[in-house]
Parts: sequence; C-alpha cells; structure tokens
Amino acid sequence: MSRVLCRVEDIPDGEGRGFATDGAGPDILVVRRGERVHGYVNSCPHTDSPLEWVENQFMSLDKSHILCATHGAEFRIEDGFCVLGPCRGKSLAPVTLSVRDGDVVLD
Ligand code: FES
Repeated sequence: MSRVLCRVEDIPDGEGRGFATDGAGPDILVVRRGERVHGYVNSCPHTDSPLEWVENQFMSLDKSHILCATHGAEFRIEDGFCVLGPCRGKSLAPVTLSVRDGDVVLD
C-alpha cells in the first residue's frame, strides 16, 4: 500500500525530515537532494536508537552525510552506508520511495 508523506518542497533541499508511521511500520527519515529523495528506517544500526535528538535534525554539520546524534555515526545519503563511527561498515535500512507529481510516496 502506498502512502503520500509530503510534497518534495516540504523538505528543505539538503535536509532530512522524520515521519512516524503510526504503527503501520517503523518510523522513517527522508533526505532530499534536489528533486531526489532517499528514505531509511529511523534506527541506527549501532544501538537501534532513533538517529535524531532534535526533531528533523538528521544531517551532519556540512550536510554531506546523515548523522546519528547519539554517538556520531555518519551515513552516506545515497545508500545509507556508514562511513564513520561505531557502526562503520553497516547500513541504514532503506525504504522504497518515489516522487509522483511532486509528492513523496512511501511504496
Ligand atoms: S546509536 Fe547511532 S552511533 Fe551509537
């Protein structure tokens, strides 16, 4: 079942946004880069804790990576692979998203 999460422009370019799935599945985060979006389960592979401490704050200082606020792990935006921190070599769990007529859709 598909679900519209938001409009692409609702996520500032280069930023992330969290979405609760209200029990229908795990909470997720969506990172926007231009017109592309990347989605992952909001759970760090280090301790399974949510990535953010502050609502919708998912990015490293220079916005180049997704950041886990708990112990500082950094993940590539495009594939969720951890390049720095205690879970280096592991990956965020991807979720399948698409953009349809400007809507971000969770498939
Ligand atoms: S919980 Fe994410 S780096 Fe430790």
